[in-house]
Amino acid sequence: MVVREILPGIEAVGVIDWHRVAFDDLMDLPDGTTYNAYVVRGSEKTALIDTVEAEFDEEYVTNLIRAKVDAVDYIVANHAEQDHSGSLPLLLELFPMAKVVTTEKGKELLCSMVLIDEERILVVEDRDSISLGDKTLVFYPMPWVHWPETMVTWVPEDRILFSCDLFGAHLAASPLFSDNSCRLHEAAMRYYAIIMQPFRSKIREYIDAVESLSPAIIAPSHGPVHNNPSWILSLYRDWSSEEGKNLVVIPFVSMHASTRWMVERLVDALMQRGIEVRPYDLGTASPGTIAMDLIDATTIVIGSPTVHFGPHPKAAHIAFLANILKPKARYLGVIGSFGWGGKTVQSLGDMMPKLTAEMLEPVYIKGKPGEQELVAVINLADEIYKHHQDNHLV
Ligand SMILES: Cc1cc2nc3c(=O)[nH]c(=O)nc-3n(C[C@H](O)[C@H](O)[C@H](O)COP(=O)(O)O)c2cc1C
Repeated sequence: MVVREILPGIEAVGVIDWHRVAFDDLMDLPDGTTYNAYVVRGSEKTALIDTVEAEFDEEYVTNLIRAKVDAVDYIVANHAEQDHSGSLPLLLELFPMAKVVTTEKGKELLCSMVLIDEERILVVEDRDSISLGDKTLVFYPMPWVHWPETMVTWVPEDRILFSCDLFGAHLAASPLFSDNSCRLHEAAMRYYAIIMQPFRSKIREYIDAVESLSPAIIAPSHGPVHNNPSWILSLYRDWSSEEGKNLVVIPFVSMHASTRWMVERLVDALMQRGIEVRPYDLGTASPGTIAMDLIDATTIVIGSPTVHFGPHPKAAHIAFLANILKPKARYLGVIGSFGWGGKTVQSLGDMMPKLTAEMLEPVYIKGKPGEQELVAVINLADEIYKHHQDNHLV
């Protein structure tokens, strides 16, 4: 990849992974990703901010050669995860005088994730700083975005914040800077949905901390650099708030169309009541897209038939995902069809103990629902409407 200047003395030296299709095997990536890394050259010393996925370490080193980085004093490891720390062992070989700068927890994790010799590590605490001469690195630990060791690095002279995964996006794009486009909005939202959503109360704290720095530039470790930080900060404010929107998300699976019939009736009834609704057939839907809707949904309704006495595995998967993402939804419904018996409704509820949502009256029907069963579906729509009204959403 090419080396690009962000500001005098600060360059982007990371790599673009145009063709990556999945991340952590959790998130499908429609538009690839990047592993961002930066060089900060002060008048006396040089620091690297983060490294890249080990698979790309030769490209990273090539970029350092192109950027004419021939001496490195510090390698800041904002986060120990391997997509940012993978090249550390090679870099430590190349630059034997360089110290890795990280938090205490980061030290522990780096030693186990990429087998770094702890002698090479310099531990920093909240607001510790390192002078590079005419530039300073100031460290702000921000645990749980999304690992326990994460920190961000601030260069006050340039008002640039290296925010690691916070404010990042899986988006391979040739422009260095954010264009605030729908494409980036979606990539950042998908990223937030899977990675940051469970930690939103911490994220709200960190947004305050970042805003108080008043950064001119936020340079995350994935996706474009934000030279208009207010755009991403306001998106994060919205996503991380506890206020849901007038939205019902309905992930469902149906083998013989009985559950589908119910979902279709529920969708119509909700639309008639002025509620935005997004049904997802779990046979084809992307879990990443559903996770994005979980950011805003006030109500989640899972549709599943009974299979071998419990939920269909695809419904169980989405319930499990919702449980780990801990969305802000206030109401949770289950609808579906069974043949002779089982514990689908109870099992789905049991799979989501971390959700604080109130359980709605389930609509669980034997066989193919007829017109008289429509009443139960309509009642569910009415109940959802009333709850959304109570929350001043409709
Ligand atoms: C592999 C398989 C296993 C099933 N196991 C159960 C079961 O344990 N209990 C039950 O009540 N129905 C069971 N059923 C019946 C379905 O729940 C029933 O056909 C339901 O109406 C299907 O809804 P759908 O059309 O939305 O797929 C099973 C069906 C299949 C295909």
